[in-house]
Amino acid sequence: MPAPLRVTGAVTPPGDKSISHRALLLAALADGPSRIRHILPSADVEATAGALRALGVAVPVLSPEFVVVGGGPAALRSPAHPIDCGNSGTTARLLAGVLAALPGLEVRLEGDASLSRRPMRRVTAPLAAMGAQLHFDGPPGHDGLPLTVRGGVLRPLVHAIPQASAQVKSALLLAGLLAGVDVSVTEPDRSRDHTERMLAARGVRVDIDGRTVRVPAGQRLLPFDTDVPADPSSAMFLAALAALAEDGAVRLEGVALNPTRMGGFDLLRRMGVRVALTGRRDVGGEEVGTVEVRPGVLRAVDVRGGDVPRAIDELPMIACLAARAEGTTVIRDAQELRVKESDRIRAVVANLRAIGVQAEELPDGMAVTGASHPLVGTVVTHGDHRLAMAFGVLAALPGNAIAIDDPGCVGVSYPGFWDDLARLSGGTAGPVPAALAPVLVPPSPPAPLVIAIDGPAASGKSSTAQWVARLLGVRHVDSGAFYRAIALLGLQSGVPVPEWTAAQLLGEAHRVGRRLTAQSVLPVIDGEDRDEALRGGEVTAVVSRVAQMPAVRAWVNEQVRGAGAVTDVVVDGRDIGTAVFPDAGLKVFLVADPWERARRRLLQRWGRRPTDAEIAEETDALVARDAQDAAQSTPARDAVTIDTTTLTQAEQVERIVALAHAARQRLLEEPDPG
Ligand code: S3P
Repeated sequence: MPAPLRVTGAVTPPGDKSISHRALLLAALADGPSRIRHILPSADVEATAGALRALGVAVPVLSPEFVVVGGGPAALRSPAHPIDCGNSGTTARLLAGVLAALPGLEVRLEGDASLSRRPMRRVTAPLAAMGAQLHFDGPPGHDGLPLTVRGGVLRPLVHAIPQASAQVKSALLLAGLLAGVDVSVTEPDRSRDHTERMLAARGVRVDIDGRTVRVPAGQRLLPFDTDVPADPSSAMFLAALAALAEDGAVRLEGVALNPTRMGGFDLLRRMGVRVALTGRRDVGGEEVGTVEVRPGVLRAVDVRGGDVPRAIDELPMIACLAARAEGTTVIRDAQELRVKESDRIRAVVANLRAIGVQAEELPDGMAVTGASHPLVGTVVTHGDHRLAMAFGVLAALPGNAIAIDDPGCVGVSYPGFWDDLARLSGGTAGPVPAALAPVLVPPSPPAPLVIAIDGPAASGKSSTAQWVARLLGVRHVDSGAFYRAIALLGLQSGVPVPEWTAAQLLGEAHRVGRRLTAQSVLPVIDGEDRDEALRGGEVTAVVSRVAQMPAVRAWVNEQVRGAGAVTDVVVDGRDIGTAVFPDAGLKVFLVADPWERARRRLLQRWGRRPTDAEIAEETDALVARDAQDAAQSTPARDAVTIDTTTLTQAEQVERIVALAHAARQRLLEEPDPG
């Protein structure tokens, strides 16, 4: 066993990246001297400084304290060469807004390969609606850099942006301010509001009404001093290290506690981590304080909707934490992650898998299942600083051996990251040198845990299985839906139902695929979700016919088995623990007195208490059915039989969940031999 990680110490993370960009831009555009303290001296902020220098502004070397003497917007000059925005989306998007509003300027914005792939139309389209002249210089249809901006006279704008974006909002507000026209921007969720706060601190009236921000026409920007607080997104990586440690605490000082940026810390708390915010004070319109983080026993979290913009830069770290949390973390509504410095959905999932974590891509997010086995392998960052740092935190945990292909890319936002990480963790662990990457062989992750629930008719298999799956955060395989898919294909074939044969039905079965949702494994037909048709009356009327065909049963069993090969599942049904999953990690056989089963079934069917006579009649039917099913309904030899006659459903579920925890522990201790 590796020595447990103990974290200790206090760090002031580097200056906030968003505020640093804005401090430089606003200082350059104001008429007079603005002092800037604790700016982030990183590659992204250097890109903004370099751009302003190219535009004729005397921006000194970035140091802990310096003054920019702005000459007002009219002092900006067209540069002799294209402006290189490097990797920085904030530089490119905010500059596009500024430059579009300054008549007489013509500037070509360029960026590195990653930035050139990122969408710019979200900024250029509303700017064009204001009358700005912008031209994409790349191949036809490409809406990223290089982009030529020609400054002009702009019109007012009332605009609703489809996805929350501080960069788009800021670009439009700055364009309106400089052009002297009214601009109002509405977002679906509020993105970070540094621009609004910083404009207000510089004498600009900013009206905020819910999710709408308006800068009225005809205002001037005054010079102003900025103390850049520490970046909460950078602090998040160190907080995550503390969360994953066994012991100790980490203090992160001087961190911006802006409510639009607190999503990452809120998610940490929801995962069971102790996060305390103390010493709150106001620094130039931004709340600042100390974040103290202590280790926790992590549990999975559900991230969606309004969580996303408040934690957008922290989600790679949350996904990496999920690899060590109990259960499956699901992140949804986060398609924005696909257009960050890398496609952070694809890249995070691929890298998690590369180090032995169970993870899946979803169109708008991902699902990550936690485990405690050692993580070993090489991470490909695609030059994305936040990927390097998020996986760097996992790499710092004793027992893991993770190489990172380009650790230097952290310089985009946090040049001293590796030193701070080593300092807090006692300098003992870190990424494996990239030169050793070829010798790292990821261990096969433990085989997925299959929980097979079997039992006679009306033993409550299916509802129990669904509850167990939900409580464990694993997927339920609805094998019935696969029978329904075959029945739907039969109905679509036009062959009359009495003439259906297994051969004919299965001839079309190649059209049925499996889809993993957060909670279940479901069939899709020709790649489409047909849930409504599958549950409809037409299918219900004929499904038992196809479920009686042995060849169809064999096919469905194959689908169910396939699902259990890729993800943890709870499966219920006849012969599940014997024929379908003879190697299931946990087999449960539910039994109950026929009278009790009959009573439950009628209660569920009718929603009222059945009479004794009704129960007696149903009991006879069940006993007859048991006799028919006898061949299929024998428990596997290693099944745990639970007699539920006197148990409530909650009690049954609780017992199975406890058995599942023990089974999972066994699997972790003896990983998949195959
Ligand atoms: C930023 C806004 C966010 C964030 C980025 C910095 C900013 O991007 O991801 O790191 O400084 O305005 P979006 O505006 O695209 O959400």
